Amino acid sequence: MSGEPRRSIALAITGASGAIYATRTLAALLTRGIAVELVVSDYGRRLLRDELGEAASVERMAAYLSDTYGPGVSAGSIALHSNRDMGATIASGSHHCGGMVIVPCSMKTLAGVAHGLSRSLTERAADVMLKERRPLVIVPRETPMSLPQLRNMVLCAEAGAMILPAMPAFYQMPKTLDDLADFMAGKILSALGFDHDLYPAWTGETPGR
Ligand SMILES: Cc1cc2nc3c(=O)[nH]c(=O)nc-3n(C[C@H](O)[C@H](O)[C@H](O)COP(=O)(O)O)c2cc1C
Repeated sequence: MSGEPRRSIALAITGASGAIYATRTLAALLTRGIAVELVVSDYGRRLLRDELGEAASVERMAAYLSDTYGPGVSAGSIALHSNRDMGATIASGSHHCGGMVIVPCSMKTLAGVAHGLSRSLTERAADVMLKERRPLVIVPRETPMSLPQLRNMVLCAEAGAMILPAMPAFYQMPKTLDDLADFMAGKILSALGFDHDLYPAWTGETPGR
């Protein structure tokens, strides 16, 4: 028997703006040697291409991550699942998957998770995380928000999910889009229980002051 299985995390990309948050988070998990179970909705696929270009299409993702974030991403692995495959590993609580992040999370998928609809693999896997009491991090992106959307976030939080809105901070004095993405990815890794150095810890002083 070869020791413990590698820790796996499910990462779902849905059709909300903020594809760069997904690629940065994916790269950071891979660099830590994580086995990522990746699922991308149809609109998630579109937003990856629209916001980051053809090179970031799902089929080319491994090369894109290596080119963009460095060869260290090869420490981890990606298992790509169809969002329509309810027979995928992460659709079952008996599969060892240590946690899940939906980044970015559309209001449609948020609603599906809030109401336990399991219409897609993303929604089903999130439902599994909630019923198994495993970490589920939801990164919603919409503005402004309707009352049903706000209520759906409350439902997810009450069920045990962490709502981690795509709201990068500016006290770290970001200079680039990558700095903003690093901040969000760092928050997500912290929520999933990983150490990281994606942004400096707050020292009580604004950097550069
Ligand atoms: C260019 C573009 C940007 C979008 N941005 C958002 C967004 O930021 N938030 C959101 O909730 N929906 C957004 N949508 C709408 C969702 O993609 C749409 O509701 C879709 O059905 C979500 O399906 P999914 O959750 O299966 O990915 C956007 C759609 C397009 C085409």
